[in-house]
Amino acid sequence: MKVLVIGPGGREHAIVRSLLADPNVSEVHAAPGNAGIGKLVPTHAIDANDPDAVAALATRLAVDLVVVGPEAPLAAGVSDAVREAGIPVFGPSKAAAQLEASKAFAKEVMAEAGVPTAMARVASNAAEAADALDTFGAPYVVKDDGLAAGKGVVVTRDRDEALAHAQSCFDAGGTVVIEEFLDGPEVSVFVLCDGRTTVALSPAQDFKRIFDNDEGPNTGGMGAYTPLDWAPEGLVQEVIDRVAQPTVNQMAHRGTPFVGVLFVGLALTSRGTRVIEFNVRFGDPETQAVLARLKTPLGGLLMAAAKGELDKVQPLRWSKESAVAVVVAAENYPGTPRTGDRIRGLKKVEAIEGVHVIHAGTKLDDEGKVVSAGGRVLAVVALGTDLVEARERAYDGVELVQLDGGQFRTDIGGKAARGEIKVTAPGAAAAAAKAKA
Ligand code: AMP
Ligand code: GLY
Repeated sequence: MKVLVIGPGGREHAIVRSLLADPNVSEVHAAPGNAGIGKLVPTHAIDANDPDAVAALATRLAVDLVVVGPEAPLAAGVSDAVREAGIPVFGPSKAAAQLEASKAFAKEVMAEAGVPTAMARVASNAAEAADALDTFGAPYVVKDDGLAAGKGVVVTRDRDEALAHAQSCFDAGGTVVIEEFLDGPEVSVFVLCDGRTTVALSPAQDFKRIFDNDEGPNTGGMGAYTPLDWAPEGLVQEVIDRVAQPTVNQMAHRGTPFVGVLFVGLALTSRGTRVIEFNVRFGDPETQAVLARLKTPLGGLLMAAAKGELDKVQPLRWSKESAVAVVVAAENYPGTPRTGDRIRGLKKVEAIEGVHVIHAGTKLDDEGKVVSAGGRVLAVVALGTDLVEARERAYDGVELVQLDGGQFRTDIGGKAARGEIKVTAPGAAAAAAKAKA
């Protein structure tokens, strides 16, 4: 099987790496890729957000499958163009990608499908925003309705700050979704969907804020680990039964079947499991950690989803090890990042047992040296017999990465490794008890 992977980031590097480990995958191409992907497979410098350009490349390369990584090409209709060209594609249509591209649309589908989520109101001017903020009270949650790479959400106790964020979205011509605040630990569950059938991957936890102890602004994600030993036993089944399957059924019912990954972002609140958001693609950097543990060959799995054959797939096989991904970001990220800096030490990092490097914002300079080219520059991914060992290995690796101004969090997976995460999620606990009865 010949596969083309669309996207420039760490998620795509991790996908390419796993595809190459699938004995049924004979050839992988990527567009546009990055320096790390370019070391593994041929890359093609096209505009990944241009549906016609992607379909033309897939046709010219005569690939059997296209895997679309990021949300922007999906929202632009890349999957539709590839599917029209007669090539199986892993990634939702433009219409189905609205589950991520519009938070208001996602809330509508969740309501129709009976999916538990935060109460929310859409606001399109300052008066509506103020009214919604006062309805739910502090802490305030204000979300830009459109795509914002994880940075369009403000969670604050400061009413003026909440209003100011809403106003900046209105000024840009947008609307906002204002929600009740959800407490409790967050979990990312990736659910493979073929339009009808759903298959969940092992849950992971992401660290969205830039600084340790979840301080500072939101980012695309600064690190992740998996599995979650502290998660309630029935969690994955609950996500399938109450969230993913009803959503997939509803999307099919609407005539816009969902094919690809439904990324369910959850909060395990004291009142039960609630969906924080849907994304329509693999999470980054969770994917770097999750795929490191997946033993089932990835190419076959994504092809089955693309062809509507997930019901024929055997139960997934996972490594018993834990995986941790720690992101090294450029100076000033998540603001405008400093770029063009040499990155050194990566060979030494990869010499550590169980450790590999996934590139995100990297490129080769004129001399062929790897330099930074984006906010999140790379991730050090480590496997270990348990979370403690995986963390030790990941951080041993991070210490060897040389990047001027580079920044990383020191607490990825820390609380979990120390057994400090507690859940009192009645929904999952009840589901587990029922399953046992
Ligand atoms: P989103 O773009 O919807 O994933 O939001 C980004 C982050 O903001 C989430 O990962 C949460 O940490 C936080 N967040 C979003 N919605 C809520 C909510 N209703 N309550 C608490 N935190 C939230
Ligand atoms: N890491 C969260 C995301 O990919 O949106």
